[in-house]
Amino acid sequence: MSNLNTTTGKVSLKNPVLLASGTCGVAGHEFEPYFNLSELGGIVTKSLSIKPRDGNPAPRVVEIPGCGMLNSIGLQNPGIEYFVKNELPYLIKKNATIIINIVGETVDDYAGAVNFIRDKNEISAIELNLSCPNVSGGLDFSQDPKKAFTLISEMKKLTKIPLWAKLSPNVTDITEIVKASVDAGSDGVSLINTVLGLAINRWTKKPALPRATGGYSGPAIKPIALRMIWDTHKKFPNIPIIGIGGIHTADDAIEFLLCGASCVQIGTANFVNPKASIEIINGLKDYCEKNKLNSISEIVGAAHHLVTLSGA
Ligand code: FUM
Repeated sequence: MSNLNTTTGKVSLKNPVLLASGTCGVAGHEFEPYFNLSELGGIVTKSLSIKPRDGNPAPRVVEIPGCGMLNSIGLQNPGIEYFVKNELPYLIKKNATIIINIVGETVDDYAGAVNFIRDKNEISAIELNLSCPNVSGGLDFSQDPKKAFTLISEMKKLTKIPLWAKLSPNVTDITEIVKASVDAGSDGVSLINTVLGLAINRWTKKPALPRATGGYSGPAIKPIALRMIWDTHKKFPNIPIIGIGGIHTADDAIEFLLCGASCVQIGTANFVNPKASIEIINGLKDYCEKNKLNSISEIVGAAHHLVTLSGA
């Protein structure tokens, strides 16, 4: 009997499949008709800030047919205080594995939000969003290793809950930011957030999104994510990696695990098929059985062993 139980650093997960921040509402209510949140490895909330945010003007999403989508939501969220009072009890009642995504403009903003949840045992991890491409300064903390280090080390002083740093692919060398994050005490790195992109509306003759650029996600970014996970696992084989980027099927998820991710988050696929995460969990079970694996964690990083042996 195969076992999908796994760990990402200190965080135990029923299986390695989580819902990605921003793709499951604020707290996953939208999935009620499809499955129980407790069936998942976990749910990552929408990014929550110290104060509520209205987000960017519409339109906020553009489909890039066959490839994915651009979004420019602008971190719309009800604020951490509202969330803790009104949404956290729902996730606890649903027996979900809860990862809270936190965002801010300054170190003090992040600290204010983390302080609301610092002692809550029901929270398995805090994902620090250092990488929103859709607000002014949103990429600052993940494009400068010193800023990443300062932010994460300050958050580490505030809580014992494991911290995951969600990093941006919009950098020259992701491993520099990974190193700074881990040196600062990050317990894992979530790789990757969206890729900066742009779409043009040929009828208005203007960019399709009001801020011109947006965050590109979906199947087209999978090779970018895999490459960054590959580079990170190769340099830092002991750093827990949460893989994100264009995962739509169990086959995609398996590629991420083989590359070095210890769990994955499903994002854009949820908009196409709300049951994608459950189908991926079932596909992972089949894969384990067909490959006679005792545990899915046996394949984490396995692609590197073969390459090392062949000298590539
Ligand atoms: O615009 C947004 O809310 C996106 C956030 C993110 O990509 O982290």
